[in-house]
Amino acid sequence: MKIFLIGFMGCGKSTLGRKLATKLGYDFIDLDQQIEKQIGMSIGAYFAANGEAAFRAFERKTLQEFNYPSNCVVATGGGAPCYFDNMEWINNNGTSVYIEMSATALARRLENGKDKRPLLKDMNPEEMIHFIEHKLEERNPFYLQASLKVNGISLTPDDLRALLLSDV
Ligand code: S3P
Repeated sequence: MKIFLIGFMGCGKSTLGRKLATKLGYDFIDLDQQIEKQIGMSIGAYFAANGEAAFRAFERKTLQEFNYPSNCVVATGGGAPCYFDNMEWINNNGTSVYIEMSATALARRLENGKDKRPLLKDMNPEEMIHFIEHKLEERNPFYLQASLKVNGISLTPDDLRALLLSDV
């Protein structure tokens, strides 16, 4: 089974995904890390040099052309499901799980990690909450196409595992 974790930056896709993969005995794939490996620089540096549109094209190619093992947990970048036909591709190729969280909770969690996120790095806390609220509204129509939706607050890898196993 291929499990795609989707959701906004800061919702815990990578941390939860890595632990879930260990529990299931699956491989873990972090798509942002795969992109960084291929472009040979950080996503922040790539955004600065080539702009967001070039990043989205590369992100699509990586998502859709990666050689996934048959059993794996994939943490996608927060924007990945929301561009091109990516969400449809995800749903045709695996089980998608949307880790939902409010804008306020996301803003709190992102305060420390915002420097490595090019979309947030120059924002003050007030700008960040507005940006997240707006982006969530824009992205939710994609995120909500996930096969499974789960509240990310206090979510544990065991909760996720139980949710997935009850669904198959
Ligand atoms: C982005 C999310 C990031 C990364 C890039 C753009 C987004 O991934 O792909 O900075 O548009 O939401 P994380 O969700 O892992 O932070």
